[in-house]
Amino acid sequence: MIDRNDSEALLEEYISNDNLQHHCRMVAEAMEAYARELGKDEGEVDRWWTAGLLHDLDWEQYPEEHPAKAVDEILPEQGYDESIVEAVKAHAPERTGKEPEEEIERYLYACDEISGFMYAVSLVRPNGFQDMKVSSVRKKLKDSSFASNVPREAIDKGAELIGKERSEHIRFLIDVFKKMG
Ligand SMILES: [Fe+2]
Ligand SMILES: [Fe+2]
Repeated sequence: MIDRNDSEALLEEYISNDNLQHHCRMVAEAMEAYARELGKDEGEVDRWWTAGLLHDLDWEQYPEEHPAKAVDEILPEQGYDESIVEAVKAHAPERTGKEPEEEIERYLYACDEISGFMYAVSLVRPNGFQDMKVSSVRKKLKDSSFASNVPREAIDKGAELIGKERSEHIRFLIDVFKKMG
């Protein structure tokens, strides 16, 4: 059985960039929180967390192939569950041709870009996530020069995929990221 420590070790083996590691951990926490909110059992909570943690595993070393290297080679070779591999595949539909359909896939897609965006917002605030309001995030979303590498359409599409208002999704994630410290 692969446990969380194994996945952490794999993350550190493939990713040396602290920011990217941090992004992966944020998405893992977001996925865990949603899995719990949805009442999943512990095994499923672990799978959601793991899909979040490893979704960008090959991004640093294989940016051209991402996420093919992870989904075709690394993750299956390590023995990761099919649902995790498929979720990683579906987080980048424009590269893999696989659209997020299963619940874990839709949530991963929905948590990815918004987490990166919210992290960027936290960096320009004195107290980071601690006193972040949904309105601060919304304002930055409207400012196309802010974190311009984050595609706003992907954020909207993500919220839609999980059937949430964008604001509701952001509010949930502020609470998750606040606890990460
Ligand atoms: Fe990615
Ligand atoms: Fe990502």
